[in-house]
Amino acid sequence: RETPVARQADGSYVVSTYREIAELLHNPHLSSDVRNLSRPMEAVQGRTTPSFINLDPPEHDRLRRMAMRHFGPPHTPGLVTGMEDDLTAVVNGLIDGFAGKEQIDIVDDFAYPFPVTVICHLLGVPREDEPRFHLWVDAIVNSIDYNPETDPKEKLENGVQAREDLRQYLAGLLEQRHGKPGEDLLSRLANDDGPDGRMTDEEILATANLLLIAGHETTVNLITNGMLTLLRQPQMLQRLRSEPGLVVPLVEELLRYEPPVHIIPWRAAYTDITVADTVIPKGSKIMLMLASGSRDPNRFHDPDVFDPDRRDNEHLGFGSGIHLCFGGPLARLETQIALTALVQRLEEPTLVTDPPPYRPSPVLRGPIHLHIE
Ligand code: HEM
Repeated sequence: RETPVARQADGSYVVSTYREIAELLHNPHLSSDVRNLSRPMEAVQGRTTPSFINLDPPEHDRLRRMAMRHFGPPHTPGLVTGMEDDLTAVVNGLIDGFAGKEQIDIVDDFAYPFPVTVICHLLGVPREDEPRFHLWVDAIVNSIDYNPETDPKEKLENGVQAREDLRQYLAGLLEQRHGKPGEDLLSRLANDDGPDGRMTDEEILATANLLLIAGHETTVNLITNGMLTLLRQPQMLQRLRSEPGLVVPLVEELLRYEPPVHIIPWRAAYTDITVADTVIPKGSKIMLMLASGSRDPNRFHDPDVFDPDRRDNEHLGFGSGIHLCFGGPLARLETQIALTALVQRLEEPTLVTDPPPYRPSPVLRGPIHLHIE
């Protein structure tokens, strides 16, 4: 309320109110290009082509457009259209695996394996290779928030190694897809002759890697935060059970109330930028507090109340502007199907520990385990 735009001791800026965050996300003078920023992961990413989340126009726009041609609604009919049955089958298979267990961990037994399985399917990864994907994704996701002051060096090294192994694996798969048009994303990108021409192999690999990483822990956290919210409000869980259509606004409200991405930690000012009467000097790093913006009382009535019936719920859960989450339609569908199946099939689920233990990341928020019985 008092300081929508705050300068930190290291000279970077933190922006925490809805209007200012939205304004900055639409400002063409803000850069997402990793080459303008210095962060720990640069050491890892610097060795490979940046993916479009870390690029500015025109490179960003060309690559995003090319990927979007194959990915799906709302922009084009693509891979995500008609996935409902496949996703439901994956979810039911995971819930079948709960049989005989006294306690279930919603993270390890359900939310964690689900999105990797889905993205492997989209990319065209053979089923027998999926377990290797899970291990690589684990190591990479773990290393994203590497902090040289507090974390053991292996955390970064394991992440670097996993990125390399994943890259080599995907490069091998891509090699096989050239000249063989198929339905999976790698085949489509490798053989695309659309208006923007073809992506290079490096660009395809960076894109595949981005989809895997950007779409994994975020979705895990949305499903887990959703289950936690429902378990804390049994009347809401009951309502969802008897009113299945509620799941659509309920997932939107989760993206506002318990968003998986709390902060966009990487933007840089290309010029001096004035926002809320503060001049952010050219070259400054800017952090955008999405979760705070989505609970701004100047934008949302009773922001700390979980209310799936609220209207006009334009949350910042997927960001905004040119980098608006590319996987939003898929993440929504996955979470809607996951929560619907969990509330229908679990009889009297109760939380074992409240609050559950959380991942240490300030950027991606969600429990590391969520035990229920
Ligand atoms: C971008 C959130 C799931 C792919 C973003 C951004 C946010 C976000 C906040 C904006 C980042 C920025 O402006 O720098 C989420 C959340 C998810 C989710 C909360 C789940 C609940 C997914 C999924 C995929 C995906 C499932 C793909 C399979 C991407 C990509 C971008 C992105 C490719 C970059 C877009 C661009 O730079 O144009 N996501 N995401 N996300 N997301 Fe997601």
